Amino acid sequence: MSAAAEASNAAVAESLLAFWADAGVDAMLLDEAVDRIEAGKVMPPPRPAAPLAPVAPLAGLRALAGQMDISGAVAQAQALAAAAPDLEALVAAIAGFEGCPLRFEGAATKAVVYRGDPKAPLLVIGEGPGADEDARGEPFVGRAGKLLDRMLGAAGLTDRVLITNTVFWRPPGNRTPTPAEQAICAPFLERIIQLVQPKMLLLAGGASAKSILKREEGILSLRGRWFEWRSADGSVELPAMPTLHPAFLLRQPGAKKRAWTDLLTLTERLDRPDRPL
Ligand code: URA
Repeated sequence: MSAAAEASNAAVAESLLAFWADAGVDAMLLDEAVDRIEAGKVMPPPRPAAPLAPVAPLAGLRALAGQMDISGAVAQAQALAAAAPDLEALVAAIAGFEGCPLRFEGAATKAVVYRGDPKAPLLVIGEGPGADEDARGEPFVGRAGKLLDRMLGAAGLTDRVLITNTVFWRPPGNRTPTPAEQAICAPFLERIIQLVQPKMLLLAGGASAKSILKREEGILSLRGRWFEWRSADGSVELPAMPTLHPAFLLRQPGAKKRAWTDLLTLTERLDRPDRPL
């Protein structure tokens, strides 16, 4: 091909990519999802020779992840999480962790771990970072995050929350994180809960609620109800309330009333813990 033809092809390709970017296309996906753990393209790191910390039973995690063996990645996440004395160290540990395939798939930048008050009484757990979060390195900073902030502000919770997700890297094309990806990230999330010591959890959306509570029902049935979350070692128990995801509320504004009711119920319990439910 002549140099002129090559330059012309490159210009056409650039123009097409710019057109797609303007139209909001920010990821290239195949028709079928590629399971990179299964395909062996991304290998979870080997299980450490001597466990650095007590390892929780993995049977449930294996069931969650089907036949896929994620135990090495989970054990490594558990060891790293247990060794982190504070949030700063935990963020560094997550940033260095290579056991979650998402790190090599959707994420353009660094791990997205948390924003908010490290001693907040309320922990909000979303599903996973999107494009805006990936670009900024902070959870819930896009349109859904702005709606979440407005709702938290209206409930008087602005300075009383820490916001995080079930996974710390953006799933490609903003797909829902898989149970395996969530299980691999779970030890880090659990360590966040241990370090922050919130009084309760707000679970934003079905992917968060199902993963954290190990429930199968849809979010429309789970939302607005109180559940008891228990850490893997049983040492921490917290009330947890699932609610509708703010991204869903942007698509279905008519559902905002239900999410608002959930938030008021939660705020009431936060402010008056002794009142009967
Ligand atoms: N949606 C989520 O679940 N989490 C984010 O951080 C952003 C959007």
